Amino acid sequence: MTFDHDLKASVRTIPDYPKPGIMFRDITTLLADARAFRRAVDQLVHPWAGNKIDKVAGMEARGFILGGAVAHQLSAGFVPIRKKGKLPHTTVRIAYSLEYGIDEMEMHVDAVAPGERVILVDDLIATGGTAEGAVKLLRQIGANVIAACFIIDLPELGGAAKLRAMDVPVRTLMTFE
Ligand code: PRP
Ligand code: ADE
Repeated sequence: MTFDHDLKASVRTIPDYPKPGIMFRDITTLLADARAFRRAVDQLVHPWAGNKIDKVAGMEARGFILGGAVAHQLSAGFVPIRKKGKLPHTTVRIAYSLEYGIDEMEMHVDAVAPGERVILVDDLIATGGTAEGAVKLLRQIGANVIAACFIIDLPELGGAAKLRAMDVPVRTLMTFE
């Protein structure tokens, strides 16, 4: 697929948010643009059309918006991976770090059946800490993680390389240096 300059232009950059030195890549402007939102979801879905995907897993909060749309288009189920303390049933939990903080995330222990084919969806991969934690949780309950898909890659932070080293194929739609 050729590089989509219009899509990249729909992402807004906010310097020094949420901390000094962070260039925050804000997808709310992409989401608010009907054409850009559709193109982003279509491009995330494209490689999986005709493939059997049982579940799409999305990380709170931006991964819910994109993952829900991708799951709908693939006729797959959706699995929310949430920040700690939000899920009512028995969970698996993991601590993780990201570009600007640390946290813990959880998933329901029965969210995916062993062997089910799952793709992970989020808006952005930076250090890969969030996605690495999500893959570990999914594998802990027996999921077959087929790939991880993001709109934005920040390659200098090494997240995509970290996931590939875990044998997770990574697809991203654009990069910011
Ligand atoms: C952002 C983004 C990814 C994560 C990427 O989420 O949506 O989930 O950071 O960073 P990493 O690759 O360094 O782990 P954030 O935790 O800010 O949560 P939000 O979606 O609730 O804003
Ligand atoms: N999550 C981690 N790093 C980020 C960044 N630079 N912009 C937006 N979301 C992020």
